[in-house]
Amino acid sequence: MKGMILAGGLGTRLRPMTLVTNKHLLPVYDMPMVYYPIKCLVNAGITEIMIVTGEENAGDFIKLLRDGKDLGLTRLEYAFQVGEGGIADALKLGKHFVGDDQVCVILGDNIIEHNIVDAVDDFRKQKEGAKILLKEVHDPERFGVVEFSRDGESVVNIIEKPKDPPSNMAVTGLYMYDSDVFGICETLKPSARGELEITDVNNEYLNRGNLTWAKLDGWWTDAGTIESLHRASNLIADTGANKVSNLV
Ligand code: DAU
Repeated sequence: MKGMILAGGLGTRLRPMTLVTNKHLLPVYDMPMVYYPIKCLVNAGITEIMIVTGEENAGDFIKLLRDGKDLGLTRLEYAFQVGEGGIADALKLGKHFVGDDQVCVILGDNIIEHNIVDAVDDFRKQKEGAKILLKEVHDPERFGVVEFSRDGESVVNIIEKPKDPPSNMAVTGLYMYDSDVFGICETLKPSARGELEITDVNNEYLNRGNLTWAKLDGWWTDAGTIESLHRASNLIADTGANKVSNLV
């Protein structure tokens, strides 16, 4: 399975810091933000990865990560996303890198406490379709949110940033797909916020009856706002999880 880390976008919610650097290069406790998703993939046994970054400070990723060997990677490729067309627009750039393989995609500002190796192994066996990882949150309106069937057994819909959330179960920014995902991305239309939405991709797999899900263990946070960036650093400091000294 290949890995992709999506680290484009303009990081407007972290201005003024992101006027001079890319959001994913900002420090989270003792590491640049992008180290965390890299570590997450390496810990799950995925060492061939592509990082998608964008307009501002793209060259700094190469300076920081070089060939990725120091972080446990066996292959590191970079792609450049023009503009800020959305998560699914960034994902499109992995088409040739992923080929016929499966891909585990992590948003560059998502940080987790534990390991996703079990979910990744389950998805290897699943072979086709997609898998999403869910986490209970107290502020679901900030995320993609799942609606469950009456018996609570199956996901029937995913809604991006709902005003009236149907549950408090957020779709985290860790996704697994088969190579059909690149064809699906080509069919998407921009949403009201002008982006190709990853939630539309996941709903397409749901409509095909090909989407599985699991709950993520341990804490999970994004780090894309001042509050969540601060929380991410505190969680790492308080729990000791994912400190740089534990890196590979
Ligand atoms: O964190 C999980 C949430 O991430 C999900 O629950 C939502 O369904 C999903 O849409 C996303 O929501 P956000 O609004 O928080 O996404 P954001 O625009 O902050 O982008 C998250 C990361 O995706 C960002 O750190 C870099 C990458 N990205 C984003 C955009 C818009 C790109 O690489 N290119 C882009 O054009």
